[in-house]
Amino acid sequence: MATPIWTRRHVLSLADFTPLEYDTVLQTANSFREVLSRRTKKVPTLQGQVVTNLFFEPSTRTRSSFELAAKRLSADILNFAPGTSSLTKGETILDTAKTYLAMGTDMMVVRHKEAGVPHAIAREMDRLNVKVGVLNAGDGQHEHPSQALLDLFTICTILDPDQPRLSLLQNKKIAIVGDILHSRVARSNIWSLTASGAEVHLAGPPTLLPRLFEAFIKEPDPGSGVWGTASHPTSGTTFSRRLFLHWSLEPAIRDADFVMTLRLQKERMTSHLLPSLREYHQMFGITRDRLKLCNPAVKVLHPGPVNRGVEISSDLMDDPQFSLISQQVTSGVAVRMALLYLMGSGKA
Ligand code: NCD
Repeated sequence: MATPIWTRRHVLSLADFTPLEYDTVLQTANSFREVLSRRTKKVPTLQGQVVTNLFFEPSTRTRSSFELAAKRLSADILNFAPGTSSLTKGETILDTAKTYLAMGTDMMVVRHKEAGVPHAIAREMDRLNVKVGVLNAGDGQHEHPSQALLDLFTICTILDPDQPRLSLLQNKKIAIVGDILHSRVARSNIWSLTASGAEVHLAGPPTLLPRLFEAFIKEPDPGSGVWGTASHPTSGTTFSRRLFLHWSLEPAIRDADFVMTLRLQKERMTSHLLPSLREYHQMFGITRDRLKLCNPAVKVLHPGPVNRGVEISSDLMDDPQFSLISQQVTSGVAVRMALLYLMGSGKA
């Protein structure tokens, strides 16, 4: 594969991703999707490189998917497990990262319950002047770039399986529903989906979608839903980010092309933000019946893990006509191969 233009050492946030970068990830992931459909699903691209998974917080799909992606690229992978590590003896996170650096790590994939930890490790690597790339695999309530990129890839391959690209989402309506307050997945998806020209509608109860949330995404232009135009120095493209907030479900999902529902993150809820799960399901749960309001070809996404019967009904979750949940997991491997490949390509 010809090495596409890629200048980013770390992938920590999607806030400043350019359309060209999104398209580079989508195209590269599509090539790896083809590799993964072959009988021999492995390429020698990152042979000799070391990828370290530094997960300070539980994970099933993200950690395994990065591990498989690294293996499919023939990299050596180290998996750090906090419970059995020297963290329990008081070693700091930066010293842990430097230990893996001393073993020859080329890329670190970092997840932590506090926002900013991957950034701190990346800054330390830059300060040490070592060419180690850091990938944010979820930091607190901040961002989860690889999840948003795999969501983007999943959506784009539905629209054009041969040539998934950002522009396919122009003027599509996408609803993101649920616990937006605690969701790093929503924050990263807001950056990517609004960069595509899609109209993004957030829906949730006021406790999980406070007005304060608008401040996080910059100064909105009240009423219009447009919160500013951005232009990209590299591509010269100017676009408006179109984002709408709703405290009821119907206006968000009416005529929607895609509905992304989010897990209620009970572990991050410090106060009683909901009356009951049953009431939440009645107001914001995605069911087959509710999908009748959407575009007939609507598809439903969920990053997982799912609280069955809470944010989405159990039958809908398993219905391949609507649910993209398994496809998201499958796409995750190709997208993470693309990210590791692009970040590691300068060293290969
Ligand atoms: C998400 C996460 O950990 O942020 N899951 C994931 O990575 N697939 C969402 C969640 O935990 O609800």
